[in-house]
Amino acid sequence: MTPKELESMKATAPKSKEEVTKEIARSRYLYPKHVEVIRDFEPFVDETTDKMLLETGENAWQPQDYLPDMTREDWAEQLKEFRGQAECVQDDTLVVLIGDMVTEEALPTYQTLLNTFEGCDDPNGDTQNSWARWSRGWTSEENRHGDLLNKYLYLGGRCDMRKVEETIQHLITSGFNPGAEQDPYRGFVYTSFQERATKISHGNVARLAKQNGDANLAKICAMIAGDEGRHEKAYQSFCDKVIERDPDGFIDVFADMMKGQIVMPAELMTDGNDPKLYDNFATVAQKLGVYTAIDYAEILEFLLQRWDLENMTGLSAESDEKRDFLCRLPARYKKLATRSMNKAEKEGYESFPFSWIKGRTA
Ligand SMILES: [Fe+2]
Ligand SMILES: [Fe+2]
Repeated sequence: MTPKELESMKATAPKSKEEVTKEIARSRYLYPKHVEVIRDFEPFVDETTDKMLLETGENAWQPQDYLPDMTREDWAEQLKEFRGQAECVQDDTLVVLIGDMVTEEALPTYQTLLNTFEGCDDPNGDTQNSWARWSRGWTSEENRHGDLLNKYLYLGGRCDMRKVEETIQHLITSGFNPGAEQDPYRGFVYTSFQERATKISHGNVARLAKQNGDANLAKICAMIAGDEGRHEKAYQSFCDKVIERDPDGFIDVFADMMKGQIVMPAELMTDGNDPKLYDNFATVAQKLGVYTAIDYAEILEFLLQRWDLENMTGLSAESDEKRDFLCRLPARYKKLATRSMNKAEKEGYESFPFSWIKGRTA
C-alpha cells in the first residue's frame, strides 16, 4: 500500500458515533457555518425574545384597545364618532393604508419564510429552542397589525372590503421571494431592512392621518410603527452577533444581496383586475412621501452606520473590497433617487383608479 492510499483509507475510515451524528447534522444544511454561528448566540436570542418582544396577554396592546367597543351600550355612538373621523381620511392616504394592510395580512407568508432560514426553524411547531420561540413571538406581534388595520378599514366604511380581501387572498396564494435562499444571514439582512421600511411607512401614514384629522388612525399606525421599531432593533442586533463571529461571511452575503434590490413583500399583489396594482400603490406611497426611493437609500445608509462597516477590522482583502462597494452605495442611490423624484415631481404624479376604493382615483 502506498502512503497515498493509506492516507485516503484513513480519511474514509469509520468515525465515532458522535462524529457521524455531527456530520449528518452538518450535511443537512446548505450553510452549516452560518447555522453554527447563529446557534452560538442562542442565549442572546432568548434574552432578546424576553426583552424586546412584548409580553402576551393582559400586558400587550390588542387591536380592541383602539377600536369601538361593540359590547358596550353606547357602541352606536362610539362607532359614529369613529366613522366620522375616518371620513376625513383622503383617498390617497387610504390607498397607501390599504396597501400596507394587505402587506401585513400576508403574515402567513412571512412566518413560512422565517422557518426556511436554516437554524431558525421550528421543526415541531411548538419547539422550545431560542429561534423557534423568537419566530413565534414575532409572528404573534405581527398578527396584531393586519388584524387592527383590517378592522379599522371595515368599521370605517370607506373602502370596498371585498376587493381588499380578494387582494389579500391573491397575495398569500402568490407568495413572495425575498432572495434569502434559506440562508439565515440573508434572512437577517432582509428583515433588518424590511422592518425599518415598514416602521417608516406606518409612521408616515400616522402623520398623514393626523393631518387629515383622524386621531384614531394616527394612534393605530403609531402603535404599529412602534412594534416595527422593536423588531428592527432585534434583527439588527442579531446581525451584530453574526458580525462579531463571522465578519467575512456577513459582508459576503450583504454585498451579494445589495447587487440587486431589496424586494418589497407585497410585490406580487393583485386584485385580479389591475396588472399594475403594486406599482400604482408604490407610486402613491412615493407621491405622499410615505415610502420613497430616498427612504430606500437612507435605510441602507443607516444599516451601514449601524453595523459600523466603515471601521470593521480584520477583514480579508476580498471582503474589504465588498465593504467598499457597500459603503459607496447610499450616496449613489441617493443621487439616483433625488434625480428620479425631482423628475416625477416636475412632471406631476399620475393618478390611478383603485378597486379598493370603488374605482375612485388616487
Ligand atoms: Fe407588521
Ligand atoms: Fe415587523
